[in-house]
Amino acid sequence: MPTSYCVFLTGATGFVGGTILSCLSKAHPSVRVKALIRQEVVAKELQSVYPNLTPIIGELSSLSLLTSTAAEADFVIHAGGDNVPAVCAIIDGLASRTTIGSLLPRLISLTGPRSLIDLSKPITGNLGTSSRPWSDITDAHAILAVPKDRMHAGADQAIIAHSAAKGVGTILVSPGQLWGRGKGHLKKESNAAFYYATVKSRGRAFVIGEGTATWSWSSIGDLGDAVVFLMEQALLSESERRGQVGVNQNGYYFVSTGDLSMMDRAKAVSERLGLGEVASVSVEAAKEIHPFGPIMWGCGERTRADKLAELGWRPQETDWRALMEEEGGERA
Ligand SMILES: NC(=O)c1ccc[n+]([C@@H]2O[C@H](COP(=O)([O-])OP(=O)(O)OC[C@H]3O[C@@H](n4cnc5c(N)ncnc54)[C@H](OP(=O)(O)O)[C@@H]3O)[C@@H](O)[C@H]2O)c1
Repeated sequence: MPTSYCVFLTGATGFVGGTILSCLSKAHPSVRVKALIRQEVVAKELQSVYPNLTPIIGELSSLSLLTSTAAEADFVIHAGGDNVPAVCAIIDGLASRTTIGSLLPRLISLTGPRSLIDLSKPITGNLGTSSRPWSDITDAHAILAVPKDRMHAGADQAIIAHSAAKGVGTILVSPGQLWGRGKGHLKKESNAAFYYATVKSRGRAFVIGEGTATWSWSSIGDLGDAVVFLMEQALLSESERRGQVGVNQNGYYFVSTGDLSMMDRAKAVSERLGLGEVASVSVEAAKEIHPFGPIMWGCGERTRADKLAELGWRPQETDWRALMEEEGGERA
C-alpha cells in the first residue's frame, strides 16, 4: 500500500472501528488514518497510541466535514453505525474524485445480518424448519431486497442506491455475532458481555423455547482483518487478485466463521459459572429481562462468507469457547 495512502475512518473509538484501526495500523503502519472523533481528549489518547492517526474532531451530523474529509481520502471505512445522511455525505465526497468509467471499491460500511430476520413471523427461540444459511453470492440479490423496515435494511439499500447513483463503489461488511476481546485501544467488549452479565445476575442461564435459534459468528480480530483484506483487494489490479471485488448491488459481504446455537451459548456460560441446567423462558419473560431480549436471544440467521472465501480470505480464530474466555473475558 503506498505510504501516501489516506484512509478516513469513522467509529474509531468503538468496538468494531477500534479493532479495524488496530488491524489496519498493524498491517500497514505507514498508511495515514484520519479518524472522526467527537472529543479532543479521546483524540489525544488515540494519537499517543497510533502515530499514523490524524483526528478529525466532529460528529456524524457534521455532513460537510464528512464530505470534505472523504474527498481527500483514498478510501473510507465507516464503523459508526446505521446513519444514512452521514454515509451519503461520505459518498458525495468520494464521488468528487471518481474517474468516469471505473467503479473501484472506495468505501467499506459496516452493517449487520439482523436485516435477515423476518419479524412478521413469531419469535420462537427455535431454528425454523425451512431456515437455511444465506450465501452472499447466491442470495446477493435477496439480501439487498428484504423489506426496508427491517433493522439495517433501509440503511443498506439507501447507501447502495446513493453509491450507484454517484458512481462510487461501496462494500457493505456484515459480521454476525462477534466473539473475543476487541483489539482497539478503547472499547474492548460488546454484546457478548451483556448476556453473560444477565445470566450471572439471574443465577441461571436461559434460552427462549428450545434455544435452537442459531447465529453465525466470527472473532472480532478476524472481522478487523477481513476489512483490511478487502481494502487491500480493492487496491490490487484484476490480474493480481483471485476474483472480482464486487461493489454496490454485488457488494454485500458476510464475515462468518461458524454457527452457534443459543443453547450452546447458554450451556457454555452455565458450565463456566457452575449454574446447572439451562432454563427455557417465554418470549414475554425475555422481553421483561430486556426490551430487545426476544431479538437478541430468540432469533438467528446463518450466513456464509462465500465472497471472501472466493477472494482467498480465511478466518484464523475458529474456537468460539476460547474466544469467550479469552483474557478472562466475561462473554457468552
Ligand atoms: N458489536 C457487534 O457485535 C456488531 C455485530 C454486527 C455488526 N456490528 C456493526 O458494526 C458497527 C459498529 O458497531 P460497534 O459495536 O463498534 O458500535 P460501538 O462500539 O457502539 O461504536 C460506535 C462508534 O460510532 C461512533 N459514533 C456513534 N455516533 C456518532 C456520532 N453521532 N458522531 C460521531 N461518532 C459517532 C462512536 O463514537 P463515541 O465513542 O464518541 O460514542 C463509536 O466510535 C455498527 O454498524 C454495527 O451494526 C456490530
